[in-house]
Amino acid sequence: MLDEIAATRYVTPLREGGSLPGVVEADDLGTYVVKFRGAGQGRRVLVAEIISGELARRLGLRTPELKLIDLDPQIGVREPDEEVQDLLKASTGLNLAIDFLPGALGFEPLAWTPDWMFASRVVWFDGLIHNVDRSWRNPNLLIWHRDMWLIDHGAALWFHHNWPTADPRRPFDVGDHVLAPFATDLESAAAELSAKITPELLETVTALVPDEWLDDEPGFDSAQAVRDAYVDHLLRRAQGPHEWLRRPDTPTGRPAGPGSVGEFWRGGDR
Ligand SMILES: Nc1ncnc2c1ncn2[C@@H]1O[C@H](COP(=O)(O)OP(=O)(O)O)[C@@H](O)[C@H]1O
Ligand SMILES: [Mg+2]
Repeated sequence: MLDEIAATRYVTPLREGGSLPGVVEADDLGTYVVKFRGAGQGRRVLVAEIISGELARRLGLRTPELKLIDLDPQIGVREPDEEVQDLLKASTGLNLAIDFLPGALGFEPLAWTPDWMFASRVVWFDGLIHNVDRSWRNPNLLIWHRDMWLIDHGAALWFHHNWPTADPRRPFDVGDHVLAPFATDLESAAAELSAKITPELLETVTALVPDEWLDDEPGFDSAQAVRDAYVDHLLRRAQGPHEWLRRPDTPTGRPAGPGSVGEFWRGGDR
């Protein structure tokens, strides 16, 4: 189970994305980025964060610790911003807390060259979880203590917004991924990571999602049936064939040097 804590103070909203996550202090004296259940896309975003984040962690990719956080209706009472107040009211009860990494910087491809193997693992992993939210416009990678940390998996597993369209063979276009220019060994990454993705591993990470975020999902008769569907989908995608990975043309097959990253960067503007 994920640890459960209680919110003690709402500190400030993070206004970068659309979902208005907030910085919140909790009764374990920790500071967290909280994703609220009452935000636009609802509880499925939190499900995607848990399954993807906990899978990433077990595959050896760094991502901040996740906890469940209870939100008391009193927390928002003195909040001056009406939008925040409404969001807190709509999110009374369980929400998702992500350990806040103080002083972390956003990844900037012109300033930091990632390791090829690391980049290949991240690109393959994002393909596995259908994560289109790691583009150069919006990398969702933080540099903290000289390491790269993966954040924001709320847009992954997006097929769950319409389960009948879920397709484990759906193509994933690598071209838009911020680490694509560095991901030169996708074959090794696929072999290494897919070997680790067992039914037991997927059952472990889906078991971390609270029942109340899976109950009453249209087309399923229990929370466990939804978990089983995630397990089946990810297992089939991981076990291949991996034709879903669509590579951009990389004429030299070598990682891009700083100059060509610039080309890549500018190319995105057109
Ligand atoms: N664990 C964290 N530690 C420090 N900063 C974070 C953390 N999580 C998110 N942030 C900051 O907050 C911003 C928004 O969070 P994110 O998870 O990307 O949500 P969204 O893009 O859905 O609004 C990030 O771009 C990052 O700058
Ligand atoms: Mg984001």
